[in-house]
Amino acid sequence: MPRFDKYIHLTDTHLVKEAGALYGLDPKLRLQQAVEHINCHHADARAVVITGDLTHYGHDNAYEHLRECLAALSMPVYPILGNHDSRVNFVRHFPHIPCDANGFVQYVVQLERYTAIFLDTNEPGVHWGVFCEQRAQWLRAALQAAEKPVLLFMHHPFFPIGITSMDDISLRNTGPFEAAIASFEPRIAHCFFGHIHRPIFGSVRGIPYSTLRSTNHDVALVLQDPSLNIVGKNENPQYGVLLLREGQVLLHLEDYLDSSEGYLLGG
Ligand SMILES: [Fe+2]
Repeated sequence: MPRFDKYIHLTDTHLVKEAGALYGLDPKLRLQQAVEHINCHHADARAVVITGDLTHYGHDNAYEHLRECLAALSMPVYPILGNHDSRVNFVRHFPHIPCDANGFVQYVVQLERYTAIFLDTNEPGVHWGVFCEQRAQWLRAALQAAEKPVLLFMHHPFFPIGITSMDDISLRNTGPFEAAIASFEPRIAHCFFGHIHRPIFGSVRGIPYSTLRSTNHDVALVLQDPSLNIVGKNENPQYGVLLLREGQVLLHLEDYLDSSEGYLLGG
């Protein structure tokens, strides 16, 4: 049995100010249930990553709820910002998470066999993603300094995913980002997104990528809609179980509220 290093990928927790409903669901309860499930089944995970939309409105109080939920985890947590987040409020409540020299929540974590690079695509006041020249220069330097294969974590995808309403609010003006990763593609082992609230897998520019359902609400699979209305749907909440070893990145999906019983196959 090969030895994998295990990590957990959570995304789009969308916590609100007071414990309460968002689209008919309780995002704090959903996150607490995810944390309980992780502690029960994946306590050996080395860290938990959350790819943005930590909160729904960026309210100060919502980050307190987030901190409270995450305190039940024994492993480190590496969060990044999404379009729904407030950089100011996040930094106040998570002062131990590094920022780059320009104040963007961008940082590098050395994993055992990979270099994890966490990016900030948040732009106050808009829902699409922004990755400016300043952020791109930081990324270029981080890629140049990386001695191990790279895992990229960012909220917005930098390419269309075929759901027109979401493509309208993905990363815009992708030039600086694409210039930053140019020639480093073979060194990027995987790119992890949030934002889409659906499980999606593929590759772009030769880079494998994945994203997951939210722990709260989801986006329906409506591929072409000229109205650009985002259709919500409440499917099973999910997190990813990421297994890493040299030369291999593998992601299992865990629908952590699924209540169907396991049984022995055979006969
Ligand atoms: Fe989201």
